Amino acid sequence: MTERSPNAVELRAVSKVYGASAAVRDVSMEIARGAFVTILGPSGCGKSTLLRMISGFVTPSSGDVLIDGVSVLGAAPYERDTAMVFQDYALFPHRTVAQNLAFGLRMRRIAKDEIARRVEAMLELVNLRGFGDRRVSQMSGGQAQRVALGRALIVRPAVLLLDEPLGALDLKLRKQMQAELKTIHRDLGLTFVAVTHDQEEALTLSDRIAVMNGGALEQFDTPENLYRRPATRFVADFVGNANLFDARIGGGGRVAADSLPLTLDLSAAQRGGRGEGTRVALVVRPETIAVGAAAPAHHDCRVEARVDEIMFSGAVQQITGHLPDGTRLTAHQSAALPAPERGATAIFSWPGQSVWLVDG
Ligand SMILES: Nc1ncnc2c1ncn2[C@@H]1O[C@H](COP(=O)(O)OP(=O)(O)OP(=O)(O)O)[C@@H](O)[C@H]1O
Ligand SMILES: [Mg+2]
Repeated sequence: MTERSPNAVELRAVSKVYGASAAVRDVSMEIARGAFVTILGPSGCGKSTLLRMISGFVTPSSGDVLIDGVSVLGAAPYERDTAMVFQDYALFPHRTVAQNLAFGLRMRRIAKDEIARRVEAMLELVNLRGFGDRRVSQMSGGQAQRVALGRALIVRPAVLLLDEPLGALDLKLRKQMQAELKTIHRDLGLTFVAVTHDQEEALTLSDRIAVMNGGALEQFDTPENLYRRPATRFVADFVGNANLFDARIGGGGRVAADSLPLTLDLSAAQRGGRGEGTRVALVVRPETIAVGAAAPAHHDCRVEARVDEIMFSGAVQQITGHLPDGTRLTAHQSAALPAPERGATAIFSWPGQSVWLVDG
């Protein structure tokens, strides 16, 4: 007997080419059993194509897809231990909620009383008790979304694939469904792979996030690592807010920014092994920047900038400013701190220790 793979899903150098262009290029990824992974990236970057190659609705041009350690390249969607929730739900609108839920079980020739029992349990799980006889066309968007989720979960797939499952919902319902998804994931212990273009949703929901750009996988990491240690300029900019300053590594590991009147002494770890002469970009997160008449003692990076705008959003105030050459800076600081005057010159400061480098 062979040992069970720790990975629910494994992609090995998977590509999908349509005509002259690649929708997905050379993506390799291991998704641990029980993980909640999201695929995040801008429109057209290949998220749905990647998900559909896991589900079997799209065949890779090259590479391999393994589920539970076994290649599934020759297997049809219904032969894989996966279920998919489509962005448009793809429900049967004129059938009842119970009939929609029972669909996958009927296809699998499960006994009638067993189907009835599992439909009742699923109505409970997705918070739709008492709605079994209602037609799907008479449900709200959020309710239909839960039917779609229930219809996929009821076949007890090892891997649940969700393509923008909350895309059609308004913000409040979206937040509520995010919490429900997370609870269901925890209670059932299944592997979830969800597609989203909403970075906040990805950060909130997942153990790990795969950031895609132009068909390629930029970084596959924990939310915290993506934010604190982005691998590329694209990730630094796409996940959270970032000030990005072009710079060059000089002698002795000192880093000089093109448009900031300062040089930084960065540790070898911060430089990531990059040598003298390398073009880089400094990543300075807005919440590490303080704005005021004087800089806190440990803020060794200091520039004087003109304050352009102050925007309050409850707990945080966003302060934007610019240097004489036009270089822009964005700071987020507690709204409890005094705000600078618009049009005034203030010191924008941050600790060099909190700066991260990406390739320029
Ligand atoms: N069947 C197809 N034939 C030709 N091109 C396709 C096909 N499916 C997808 N593409 C192209 O592949 C690229 C990736 O598409 P995909 O649907 O995977 O993007 P996505 O990241 O899911 O985007 P969105 O966020 O808009 O849903 C796009 O440029 C798209 O036009
Ligand atoms: Mg898509």
